[in-house]
Amino acid sequence: MILPIYLYGQPVLRKEAEELESEYPDLKQLIADMYETMSQSDGIGLAAPQIGLSKRLIVIDADALKESFPELAGVKLTLINPELDIIENGKKITREEGCLSIPGLSEPVARYEKVKLNWLDENFDEHEQVFEGFLARIIQHEYDHLDGIMYVDRISPIRKQLIRNKLRNIADGKVNCDYKVKQQRHKR
Ligand code: NI
Repeated sequence: MILPIYLYGQPVLRKEAEELESEYPDLKQLIADMYETMSQSDGIGLAAPQIGLSKRLIVIDADALKESFPELAGVKLTLINPELDIIENGKKITREEGCLSIPGLSEPVARYEKVKLNWLDENFDEHEQVFEGFLARIIQHEYDHLDGIMYVDRISPIRKQLIRNKLRNIADGKVNCDYKVKQQRHKR
């Protein structure tokens, strides 16, 4: 089932998400729905708060980027209760980033080149891995969603000023989007 994506301005995107329990009802279906929702909107990552669920769950399917990043071919990850560690003296790289919750915009964001991640998969088996390059960026972006952080919080104040009106329009529901969304109704 395709779920509506919550857009910038929705309070759930600003909350710190809770740990996901293995007894969570219909978890397999929820994960399947998140993959379907993400693929329908041409996304490569989706965090549960973006479908209005304040839980620490992320799905990533980066295969679509394999032309530019061959190492992403077939990369599909379900991350439950992930813990992100920055590798010491980590170098940051700046690249354009977008977000399904902020349609029509992309901005340069500095991210660590390498991160270490601990997580549980859909069967609640533990994993630990070091990620690099663009996949490390996707993981940092999605992980931020679990802490109520959006990439526009990490851009320069000048850039943020320049996109202020666009962000306000999204929050006010004045945006056209070719996927199903949930946004604030215009209240003024
Ligand atoms: Ni995002």
